Amino acid sequence: MNVEKIREDFPLLKRKINGKKIVYLDNAATSLKPKQVIEAVDYYYSNVGANIHRGLHKLSEEATRAYEEAHKKVAQFVGARKNETIFTKNTTEGMNLVMYSLMNSNYFKRGDKIVVSKMEHHSNIVPWQFLEKKIGVKLEYARLDENYEIDMKDFEEKVRGAKLVSVTGASNTVATFPDIREIEKKAHKEGALLCIDGAQLVPHKEVNFGAMKADFLAFSAHKMLGPTGIGALVAKEKLLKELEPFMYGGDMIHSVSWHEASWNELPYKFEAGTPNIGGAYGFGAAIDYLKKIGMRKIEKREKGLTKIALEELEAVESIKLYCPKDEGKQGAIVLFNSSRVSPHDLALALSEMENICVRSGMHCAEPIVSSLNSEGLARASFYFYNTEEEIKLLSKTIKEILGTFG
Ligand code: ALA
Repeated sequence: MNVEKIREDFPLLKRKINGKKIVYLDNAATSLKPKQVIEAVDYYYSNVGANIHRGLHKLSEEATRAYEEAHKKVAQFVGARKNETIFTKNTTEGMNLVMYSLMNSNYFKRGDKIVVSKMEHHSNIVPWQFLEKKIGVKLEYARLDENYEIDMKDFEEKVRGAKLVSVTGASNTVATFPDIREIEKKAHKEGALLCIDGAQLVPHKEVNFGAMKADFLAFSAHKMLGPTGIGALVAKEKLLKELEPFMYGGDMIHSVSWHEASWNELPYKFEAGTPNIGGAYGFGAAIDYLKKIGMRKIEKREKGLTKIALEELEAVESIKLYCPKDEGKQGAIVLFNSSRVSPHDLALALSEMENICVRSGMHCAEPIVSSLNSEGLARASFYFYNTEEEIKLLSKTIKEILGTFG
């Protein structure tokens, strides 16, 4: 992989603040965008501009074709079919779609069990809490072991009799990858549906929805080079045919009379209203870009960067890492803290001194992060365009900051 050449594609990497380049290590929050994605979005607004599925004129036809083509690209990227691939706003909307559609279809009744893990993001906790209050389902959390992996013995007990299992494919905090194959077997043996939060998985690893055998997989474009405001929920066709829609209104219908309506074909039954058409142009371009590099190469490159980051940060006095500390067992995320300085002061100082962007706080996963440190933690997260030099600058600057905090 020619990283220098790749970095040329990312306009933000050329930006300077106070004469210094940006060192972007906040990729788990959102990735940077290459010019190919920016140009694709610009092309739509500058040259097409029309709505989809609503006009016979040339511009509407062109927009419709590109929008449907983007569905095909995204579907194929994750080993799914176009009619299984719904465009959403983001992963959070995907998880809400699953929750509301199941609720609208009377899938849950009082006392039913939903099992998640203790490493989940708020988007895989709060929707189920709503069902606890609304219907009286029971939300149970599978424990983590000392290596930040799901304790499979505990999971096996909790999954008994569950109606839904919903887990992350890759943690946005402790960085581990749950064993989806084992979880799938155990969930389906109980007759439970399986939902995967793929926000941190799909951008970093080759994923095959068919082979994964999950029922639902949600992810966001903006963490994989695409624009914000668009993502996908992939789900088994049979389920999508049976489930009630999530939102009601324009475009999701086949026919409407004064008191009745019938639904559009898949996936549009679940895409009410004018969607993010420009975003779909960008999402398609992001997929093209990732495919051109190749997901295996991306994964390999990230493993190399993670190894360097783990070695560099572990060697800094007073820094504690909250992850397996093994690039073979974790994603390109390092959650850390110093006993000498708060994570927010550390993140601010990194930004002030060297334009290094890391995130600090609860990382939209307050239950797990606050249990590790009540003040929150700092997090550096990498993508394939990051470099060894950037990681070394991170550890060097942390050392300088810690020196001033005595
Ligand atoms: N969920 C995103 C993160 O982990 C925003 O930062």
